[in-house]
Amino acid sequence: MTGPSAGPPLPEPFGRDSAGLAVDGRPLAELAERFGTPLYVTAGARIRASARRVRAAFAPVWPGYQLLYAVKANNNPAVVRILREEGCGADCSSPDEIRIARRAGVPRDRMLYTAAYPSEAELAFAVDSGVAVNLDDPGLLPRLLRLGRPRALSFRLNPGPTAAGREGLRFSGRRSKFGSPLERALEGYRAARRAGIDRFGAHTMPGSNVLAPGHFAFVGRFLGGAARRIEAATSVPIEFVDAGGGFGVPYAPGERPLDVGSVARLLSEGFRSVRPGPPRPTLMNELGRYLVCDSTVLLTRATHVKGTSPTWVGVDAGMHTLLRPALYGAYHEIYPVAPRGGARREVNLVGPVCEDTDVVARARRLPPLREGDLLAIGNAGAYGFSMASQYNTRPRPAEVLVEGGAARLIRRRETIDDLLRNTQRLASATA
Ligand SMILES: Cc1ncc(COP(=O)(O)O)c(C=O)c1O
Repeated sequence: MTGPSAGPPLPEPFGRDSAGLAVDGRPLAELAERFGTPLYVTAGARIRASARRVRAAFAPVWPGYQLLYAVKANNNPAVVRILREEGCGADCSSPDEIRIARRAGVPRDRMLYTAAYPSEAELAFAVDSGVAVNLDDPGLLPRLLRLGRPRALSFRLNPGPTAAGREGLRFSGRRSKFGSPLERALEGYRAARRAGIDRFGAHTMPGSNVLAPGHFAFVGRFLGGAARRIEAATSVPIEFVDAGGGFGVPYAPGERPLDVGSVARLLSEGFRSVRPGPPRPTLMNELGRYLVCDSTVLLTRATHVKGTSPTWVGVDAGMHTLLRPALYGAYHEIYPVAPRGGARREVNLVGPVCEDTDVVARARRLPPLREGDLLAIGNAGAYGFSMASQYNTRPRPAEVLVEGGAARLIRRRETIDDLLRNTQRLASATA
């Protein structure tokens, strides 16, 4: 673990030596020199450690527990492959996430397609792919049945109002577009059974980035109650219960890491308190953030220091590179790679995009900064590159994976050719 900062320290294998921050023995300054900035730098060992921690926590409390990786958090094939090697299946939110997971070697029977407002073509792809389908609404069932029979079927259940997650990361209650109330889903289970589907599950995903273990007791009780009610009301046997994602990661000062041992215990006890076994369904989680978030820093260089009050420091990463601060006011810790001596001063770090919301970090007390200085933005591995855009005609950054002391490019930096690829032939065709 390494500082200095007010917020969470960077985890191993990040560290600091006399030359500044390093990852797995590779100086971040060297990586910035070699690959340019902005640059996502991912530590493979950290992803593996997080997956192992979750699996080890659940193994004693729920034999047969299955961990899926929510590909939406970070869809780099190298990352999906690492998690497949660590025994994870894949939770996919689009046909192309199914394609990425397949190419990474994830078996079909370890994949779930969670369909939020899917088109007919998307559902058809999922059915043809042979993955389990998780429907947001039983109203989608007639369309699904016209297309075929999925390998297994679950419904995403909305548990009603919860305190899970902050605004923008809460997916439950009537204000959320996601999921169905249990009573509405019951008819879907009956109709699917009548139509010949014979493998069923129940799913919920009430919120993301939850740091309070007690929330997971609620999720366990909710799923236990749902499984019991579905089985009693429809005679459909529930083979699997998917407790979604939502395991939180500390981003801001004062936030403490989630104790996954407690989460595993509370989730399983919550379930069993309402729906004792046997038979005991397979318990699953589909985690995004927890598995990849703290594995990655976003390296960025200061481009300009505006000597006004407040002080604005321009950096070459902005809302086009890391959207979360502009999207939900998310806090990301800032780590100077080779901090200069001198008193800390309050600065605003801003990106180069022509939007006033393009603020990476507001009112942070940092050591003195000069143009060219290198900063690492923490917790950039989840919903970082995967939310990046080319807004303001800025090609997306490169990604590097460091494993066993070796750094490897896992996504090259885009160029103007990538931005224009889909327009060029059209222009010449009409010339
Ligand atoms: C259906 C579903 N599953 C899993 C996840 C992953 O959530 P998290 O990153 O909180 O683990 C999400 C995230 O939005 C989701 O919508």
